[in-house]
Amino acid sequence: MRLRELLRDTLTAEELESLPSGFDVVGDIAILEIPDAFRPKETAIGTVVLANLKHVKVVVAKDEPHSGELRTRTVRHLAGEQRTTTMHKESGVVLEVDVESMYFSPRLSHERLRIASLIKPGERVLVMFSGCGPFPLVIARNAKPSEVVAVELNPAAHQYALRNAARNKAKQVRCMQGDVREVVPALGSFDRVVMPHPEGGEDFLDIALPAVKRNGALHFYDFLEESEIPQAAQKVKQAGNAAGREVQVLGSTVCGQIGVRRYRVCVDALVE
Ligand SMILES: C[S@@+](CC[C@H](N)C(=O)[O-])C[C@H]1O[C@@H](n2cnc3c(N)ncnc32)[C@H](O)[C@@H]1O
Repeated sequence: MRLRELLRDTLTAEELESLPSGFDVVGDIAILEIPDAFRPKETAIGTVVLANLKHVKVVVAKDEPHSGELRTRTVRHLAGEQRTTTMHKESGVVLEVDVESMYFSPRLSHERLRIASLIKPGERVLVMFSGCGPFPLVIARNAKPSEVVAVELNPAAHQYALRNAARNKAKQVRCMQGDVREVVPALGSFDRVVMPHPEGGEDFLDIALPAVKRNGALHFYDFLEESEIPQAAQKVKQAGNAAGREVQVLGSTVCGQIGVRRYRVCVDALVE
């Protein structure tokens, strides 16, 4: 349900117009975006959301967007239970998530299934920047890879990924904690490498490309303005040239809007 419908009796028509209408629900935690002007009313807003959404037990507001190398953030508690951890279900997988100490977005569920649908039985897959494990676990559950190796720098996210792999009995998923620059060169080569780190992921193409087997696949994510979208494919081609690998771009998928005319884009490429 849209936030504006829920708050018709709490805010004026003018206030409703300037309130962001959508919000995320991760497990049983609703995460709202509350502009500063609404701060005096945020507890009332949280209370209405809690009272109207049966499956929601906690309501928080985003403080800042995810930031820093580990993509963490803080939230303000508005209503319900005092916690930031929850169990989130997606595509047959149950994920334990802490909405503060690690990145997780439920909006990427379609994209994760899209990647899983491309995987052929027996593939060895590398997920760089794997967080608490959504990409590796959705892949393991919805495709038939021989192995999925997941590499994540954030120690908290890695601990959750280990628990999530065990919880989902995903024996083909191997979670490793560390910097992809140090970990990936020792892992051998993969049929497919997934790079879900759109903020600065291009700085890691020199690590990802050598890890792709000949005629393997690469999925590179980027954040771009609408007019810049073709640049994502160019970045992969240029990195291919620098690495001495021929790159055939198979397509660019817009897999989400992250701001005004700003998009999350995935480049699917064949690396010869
Ligand atoms: C945008 S988040 C994606 C998390 C997860 N794949 C998801 O979709 O929910 C990017 C992740 O990359 C991790 N990261 C950043 N630099 C890294 C590095 N050098 N090596 C490994 N992981 C890194 C961050 O800690 C963060 O969890």
